[in-house]
Amino acid sequence: MNFEIPPGLTDLLQEFTVTVLREKPADLVEFAAQYFTKLNESNSKTAGRRGVKFSEPSDPDEPMQTDSDDELPPDLPKNRFNRRKSVCAERYDPEADDDESDEKVVFPKTDDQRKRLAAAVKNILIFRALDQEQMQEVLDAMFEKKVEPNEHIIDQGDDGDNFYVIDSGIYDIYVNNKKVGAYTNQGSFGELALMYNTPRAATIIAVSDGSVWALDRLSFRRIVLKNAARKRKMYETLLETVPMLSSLTPYERMNLADALRSKSYRTDEQIIRQGDEGDGFYLLEHGVVRIAMKSKVSKIHMFGYIYIYQYIVGVSNT
Ligand code: CMP
Repeated sequence: MNFEIPPGLTDLLQEFTVTVLREKPADLVEFAAQYFTKLNESNSKTAGRRGVKFSEPSDPDEPMQTDSDDELPPDLPKNRFNRRKSVCAERYDPEADDDESDEKVVFPKTDDQRKRLAAAVKNILIFRALDQEQMQEVLDAMFEKKVEPNEHIIDQGDDGDNFYVIDSGIYDIYVNNKKVGAYTNQGSFGELALMYNTPRAATIIAVSDGSVWALDRLSFRRIVLKNAARKRKMYETLLETVPMLSSLTPYERMNLADALRSKSYRTDEQIIRQGDEGDGFYLLEHGVVRIAMKSKVSKIHMFGYIYIYQYIVGVSNT
């Protein structure tokens, strides 16, 4: 017999299940009644918005609290690195780009620099899309910049010159003069303006003495961009459709796209086993999965969807 699954049913049940797992209610029926009543009320207020928050009493539509301590410090020196001027805003299309230059850039490095650079790039997600040869070209083209406290590495609104990987130091991130985060001794920034030819989306200020590795715009576009942009483009759409990730900002979603690794599975191959330690978070890219759960009480297998798997995308820390 064929059943037609109504649109929205899977998302609705998935969100409800996640909320139950998170809240662990004592009375499931009572909780379900409250959940769907609230969902119904919030749906009629904001057509199209899904999801119910139980633990946070505050109004989600209330403006974010701002902390005056987190405002951009005034009158600080601007970015002293070479600035590019006047690039137009356009969305990068990896298929249409004809590489502006294929000239290789090589900055000689000492053994100590090589070691530090290798450690700094190890966990840079955007480089995951590169093969070994491309990675070597990137390492050759990177050059070191020492920074001082209060130095602006990037100013919001400027044109993009370099992509930066942190070697050491603490760096505050400001968007529209409000501090939104910080990097401590690791991470990378400055890819957005180079990727999309848009003005810098944030200001990055060194809080301590430190050092960053810079990759010039042309080398970034020629080596990194094509592969990384293709991956971002492919997975951004997938990530947008996952209800559990709907609270992420587009920027966080892009970083998650960089972190995804594609993994293929044969029919009937086991992806995760109940009781194993969690090694990653999986998203279904293509195909169908079967979910089976052993009940603690009766030891009976309960089957969810009866599907066969083809491909899956996983985020894991290995
Ligand atoms: P880009 O716009 O080139 O320059 C500023 C960089 O700050 C940006 O790329 C990102 O790499 C980084 N950044 C960190 N957090 C954010 C954020 N919340 N929004 C935008 N950019 C951010």
